[in-house]
Amino acid sequence: MENSRETHQQKKAFRLVLFPLPLQGHLNPMLLLANILHAKGFSITIIHTHFNSPNPANYPHFTFHSIPDGLSKTEASTADLIALLSLLNISCVAPFRDCLSQLLSNPSEEPIACLITDAVWHFTQAVANSLKLPRMVLRTSSVSSFLAFAALPYLQKSGYLPIKDSQLESSVPELLPLKVKDLPVINTRNPEDFYQLFVSAIKETKASSGLIWNSFEELEESALVRLHLDFPIPLFPVGPFQKYFPTSSSSLLAHDQSSITWLDTQTPKSVIYVSFGSIAAMDENEFLEMAWGLANSNQPFLWVVRPGLVRSYEWLESLPNGFLEMIGGRGHIVKWAPQQEVLAHPATGGFWTHNGWNSTLESICEGVPMICLPYFGDQRVNARYVSQVWGVGLQLENGLERGEIERTIRRLMVEEEGQEIRRRSIELKEKADLCLKQGGSSHQSLESLIGYLSSFKELLHN
Ligand code: UDX
Repeated sequence: MENSRETHQQKKAFRLVLFPLPLQGHLNPMLLLANILHAKGFSITIIHTHFNSPNPANYPHFTFHSIPDGLSKTEASTADLIALLSLLNISCVAPFRDCLSQLLSNPSEEPIACLITDAVWHFTQAVANSLKLPRMVLRTSSVSSFLAFAALPYLQKSGYLPIKDSQLESSVPELLPLKVKDLPVINTRNPEDFYQLFVSAIKETKASSGLIWNSFEELEESALVRLHLDFPIPLFPVGPFQKYFPTSSSSLLAHDQSSITWLDTQTPKSVIYVSFGSIAAMDENEFLEMAWGLANSNQPFLWVVRPGLVRSYEWLESLPNGFLEMIGGRGHIVKWAPQQEVLAHPATGGFWTHNGWNSTLESICEGVPMICLPYFGDQRVNARYVSQVWGVGLQLENGLERGEIERTIRRLMVEEEGQEIRRRSIELKEKADLCLKQGGSSHQSLESLIGYLSSFKELLHN
């Protein structure tokens, strides 16, 4: 008892500094990781940008430091994700370095054992080197999609990129089962910026002291083996993070709890939950196809229409007059839902998703089968793995067309084929549960990570 208290106190005496990327899909896993490491006895400091700042009030056990990111209002509201991330990687260099060196020289705080940053913050490796601080990386995507990003130079050299319409359905033998249309491209004003951002992120990840994954071995075993060949640094698949604690509180938008009260009125496994995450956007035509597909499927649906989801509209204005009345109680539309609670609700029977990695993993964790409609980047790789490798979803291969949507919803929710997909989803959920238990793969990997971080602490002593 005495010993364990002593160990706990020793651990408390060291601090980790975490630097999340200010996007919802990146903030959530970084703050979950922070909670996991705090529960293991480390003190936590979060450095964050003013832009999309997390709410410190939700984490009274952490210390927060905000840095100016230099973004103008127009720059902060751009729809060009790559332009935004490239700019942040330049404008944050000086403020981040200043903040970190101040923390390192602050004698009233515990010594800092290690910096953990999002992989996309590539400039932080040079800063860490200059301050002689080990840097570890959290990559918030799947391992499989990271391998596809890591192959960008090869894909470009071999003519797969830029993507040609005539090759969309061709397979990419080096990245099976991916097809050309699944390659993780993100559209931007200047395609060279996309390429540079990810090539730098990959290079500086390779130069880091280790790589943490919100994934688990049973899900991505062969991708992890392949990754190790090319990235001879310690790898720690310790996910799914969202299963360590009952709820997460890093949402940038308010959760509409009417989602849950509405689900309470529905029969078990009958509802299709529809949400495309925090960034994806669509045109009015696509939105209308979606609305009619949902309406015609005759299944109850809970639909997240985020303000900004439909380009040029505030919210639901483009729906035809009388549409909502026609749906009646069969559909419920909200601006933002408590997604994890929704997926865990007994009435939820399917998830129509854009396959952001958090959504994909949250669905896997609850054993909810998916309909996949990826928009950009890693989502395309995730969707292919969900539908073809793990067999826990159906992919809408031809974009948004009401007839195909209606058929796909019915295939998943009503037909025999859907039962089989649900069975596999439940099997995968059981694997996700097991990996976190004593002796499970992620449990062991987390123990190794704690040991590894503790070895940095010992360096500080010498
Ligand atoms: C982005 C990228 O688009 C994605 O491809 C990448 O894998 C991570 O970063 P995003 O599009 O927002 O993320 O999707 P996702 O990764 O699924 O993250 C969304 C998060 O918001 C999830 O944790 C989800 O639970 C939460 N969410 C979503 C809500 O809390 N409420 C909602 O209504 C919708």
